[in-house]
Amino acid sequence: MSKLCIQGGKRLNGDVIINGAKNAAVAILPATVLVDGISVIENLPNIDDVAILNDAMRSLGAVTNFLDKHTLEIDASTVYQHSALDECISKMRASYYLLGALLGRFGKAEVAMPGGCDFGGRPIDQHIKGFEALGAKIEVVDNVIRATADKLIGTRIYLDVVSVGATINIMLAAVLAEGTTIIENAAKEPHIVDVANFLNMMGANVKGAGTDVIRIKGVEKLHSGKYSTVPDQIEAGTYMIAAAITGGDVYVRNIIPEHMESLSSKMREMGVEILEGDDYLRVIAPDVLKATNVKTLPYPGFPTDLQPQMAVLLTVATGVSTMIEGVFENRFQYIEQLKETGAKIQVEGNKAIIEGVENLKPTHLKATDLRAGAAMILAGLKAQGGETVIHNIKYIDRGYESVEEKLAALGANIYRKSSN
Ligand code: UD1
Repeated sequence: MSKLCIQGGKRLNGDVIINGAKNAAVAILPATVLVDGISVIENLPNIDDVAILNDAMRSLGAVTNFLDKHTLEIDASTVYQHSALDECISKMRASYYLLGALLGRFGKAEVAMPGGCDFGGRPIDQHIKGFEALGAKIEVVDNVIRATADKLIGTRIYLDVVSVGATINIMLAAVLAEGTTIIENAAKEPHIVDVANFLNMMGANVKGAGTDVIRIKGVEKLHSGKYSTVPDQIEAGTYMIAAAITGGDVYVRNIIPEHMESLSSKMREMGVEILEGDDYLRVIAPDVLKATNVKTLPYPGFPTDLQPQMAVLLTVATGVSTMIEGVFENRFQYIEQLKETGAKIQVEGNKAIIEGVENLKPTHLKATDLRAGAAMILAGLKAQGGETVIHNIKYIDRGYESVEEKLAALGANIYRKSSN
């Protein structure tokens, strides 16, 4: 198992290019099951989650071929399997998208209960409610979800909680259904718009993605086509925070600045200068970071997937900050690790109270999940006077492409070491 070793205290300078969005990619790949033809998906991040989904698509019978490191050609006309029960795929949260896609195309699907990062209970009742409303019969036996339908018929579905996964999954099940499906109280994240754009490019009729109400008019068939994945809002945010925590000056490129608004606003409150271009942000750290209060919310609110990274930035801001987790039940598991660096944090329910310290100490840290792993890297970039070693980096590799190469190119002293 590898680990990341960091000698912190280096200011980051230069340019970093952001890859395609993980959370869009892990929805678009299953969505290609709906296409009775060839999908070419460009700007895919080269990460473990994409590799796992590629294997899953092949085991369903699709013929896939990487045209280059970031472009995958998928012929889903040959898909014959309706079950995805492999252990690898079941560890991923996004495996649930295979349910919506297989159900939508074949009227039957069998998928292992989704795993993914552990943030407390992560129910899928809203996905099931949506499928049932469309006319599917759902059974959950021995941790396997089975969905069957003679015919899916469009209807009106109100989501009781704003859920990214349920919004996308219902959209997938509905594109080939008879009639019109209306999803109310839909999630609005950039990758929801991206999945809708992909589906529309292949011949679907999805309107309103990015608003509270999505209308999907069923079509007979999706056709071959080419699509390029949206830039990764969370990867971009992680590098913006890396620039700020190291006192750096970094151009974060190949992004949609509008997607970064909630983070940019909070960072500006902390004294960070952020200059905006068409497809980049330049992040210039101040001499002193100021404390602030953050609450995570569904988009366009502050993303929960940047909560751990932002919390690290707050640990070295002058004054007392608060971080409220407003999306998940329990997303503070990483804080015990972070305290090992000398950070002063107290957790009260879904609120973390963070008293700024001058610096963080180098130590051994464990990635407890994907974004927590990114947060540990940020702590390591800041910690001076020795080596920070990050273990369990398999989580980080699930969602960040070439993280150590990108940071090293910005001037960080970071390398990967294989350990026994
Ligand atoms: C997705 C993202 C994840 C991100 C999260 C919130 C993917 C693969 N993962 O996860 O990175 O952190 O959005 O932006 O895109 N809920 C229910 N019932 C349901 C579904 C969700 O109660 O059927 C609750 C969840 O427990 C949570 C909230 O709704 O409290 C939001 O979850 P959701 O948006 O569905 O997150 P995921 O799709 O799992």
